[in-house]
Amino acid sequence: MDPVDMGDDLAGVLLSEAQIAARLDELAAQIDRDYAGKAVLVVGVLKGAVMVMADLVRRLHTPVQMDWMAVSSYGSGTKSSGVVRILKDLDTDLTGRHVLIVEDIIDSGLTLSWLLANLRSRGPESVEIATMLRKPGAAKVDVDVRYVGFDIPNEFVVGYGLDYAEKYRNLPFVGTLAPHVYSH
Ligand code: XMP
Ligand code: MG
Repeated sequence: MDPVDMGDDLAGVLLSEAQIAARLDELAAQIDRDYAGKAVLVVGVLKGAVMVMADLVRRLHTPVQMDWMAVSSYGSGTKSSGVVRILKDLDTDLTGRHVLIVEDIIDSGLTLSWLLANLRSRGPESVEIATMLRKPGAAKVDVDVRYVGFDIPNEFVVGYGLDYAEKYRNLPFVGTLAPHVYSH
């Protein structure tokens, strides 16, 4: 999918494919340094983190296992419900593991602080967070995010895994939507 496929639904490209790739190179190098000599269990948060997970782990030299969790804190709209539910739990026992949570975006930080507490209660050796995007609201919550791709303005974004009503996840870039899309 490219900007032309979006027609007039696309307001603008916030992060290009090239910008994302370059930043992932940096994050992967940092993760390799930090986890040297260790094995990592990377936990991707479905569905949004699929793209960043796939692109990040392929850049790592560190041996990884991959597992997935699905949680829900948002409906199909753009506002946080404040309620987190596990839709799909991990298959892996976290006892003694180095866990790296991979997220698409941190907005209020609500989802992540809940997830962090949940995974920490399972006896891992360590839990860290890597997120592709972070919005300003996340600063209000006391979650220590070790790896951040980009700090972005407080706008609703789509693409590179992120959706609006399950659409636009397959855009290779991160973009903003034209207002008329939301008022359908
Ligand atoms: P909180 O507020 O708990 O929210 O940090 C994290 C989750 O909210 C969704 N989210 C977005 N999804 N574009 C999206 O497609 C956005 O701009 C956006 N902001 C938040 C997302 O599911 C994320 O995991
Ligand atoms: Mg998400």
